[in-house]
Amino acid sequence: MSVTVRVPAKVNVQLAVGGARPDGFHDLANVFLAVSLYDEVTVSQAPSLTITCEGPDASQVPLDRTNLAARAAELLAARHGISPDVHIHIAKDIPVAGGMAGGSADGAGALLACDALWGLRSSRSELLSICAQLGSDVPFSLVGGAALGTGRGERLTELEVDGGFHWVFAVADGGLSTPAVYGEFDRLTEGVEVPAPAASPALLDALRTGDATALAGALVNDLQPAALSLRPVLADTLGAGMTAGALASLVSGSGPTTAFLTKDEESAHSVAEALHSSGTCRAARVAASPAAGATVL
Ligand code: C5P
Repeated sequence: MSVTVRVPAKVNVQLAVGGARPDGFHDLANVFLAVSLYDEVTVSQAPSLTITCEGPDASQVPLDRTNLAARAAELLAARHGISPDVHIHIAKDIPVAGGMAGGSADGAGALLACDALWGLRSSRSELLSICAQLGSDVPFSLVGGAALGTGRGERLTELEVDGGFHWVFAVADGGLSTPAVYGEFDRLTEGVEVPAPAASPALLDALRTGDATALAGALVNDLQPAALSLRPVLADTLGAGMTAGALASLVSGSGPTTAFLTKDEESAHSVAEALHSSGTCRAARVAASPAAGATVL
């Protein structure tokens, strides 16, 4: 018997970052939007915990216990006093690039899949608490749609979205370490009073009304200056997407993936083509939002 779960990537349409906390994390107002790029995580009974991965970026995916999918199986099994003896197969379509929560998606996907395989019927809140243990972005991968994450991003309030938005994601060559980007944020804001992070009413309104132009004007990522400081060439990618007709551009999460909001699907395809031929990114992918959270197929 096996169970397959489909789980989406995300973009952060607002990432407001507060000062560093004593535990090293930062308080956030993190508005997540799930987008229609998906990984599929399949789990089946096996003699011991193993992982395989297929897809264009599969060679970059760790197949050991550092993979969040493996950690999800271990945490869930430990809670129930059972052995995490499963084979986890990840069909990876989410770019392995950073900023799209692909690893978090696999964690949430494996958790939901193991819960079903083992017949545990964990409550939503139990699953969300394991997700929060796995990482700040993992609860959102389970929930999908649109949500405001507070705390370190793991405390979610679901948001209303009317209509769909169209996106292009430019996949950069090489990664950017999330802790390094937060560290650079701390360096850039040293001696500056960092305000408490808060969700932007204009942005929430734009989501609620499905107004792409208003959303374009409200997109903001406080980590963008830090990501650009560590990887200045990302400015060329952002510029190439704007020249090609995107409504707005921003670094997705801690990067290095960059995101472009477009007025419709047709425009998304032409921006993706232009980004592809600009030579400023490794690949360009088109997606729509919102997308459903982790779903058993
Ligand atoms: O929670 P997650 O494992 O995704 O976090 C990775 C790293 O990103 C943390 O170790 C921390 O350096 C940084 N981070 C942070 N504040 C957050 C989320 C992540 O400083 N709210």
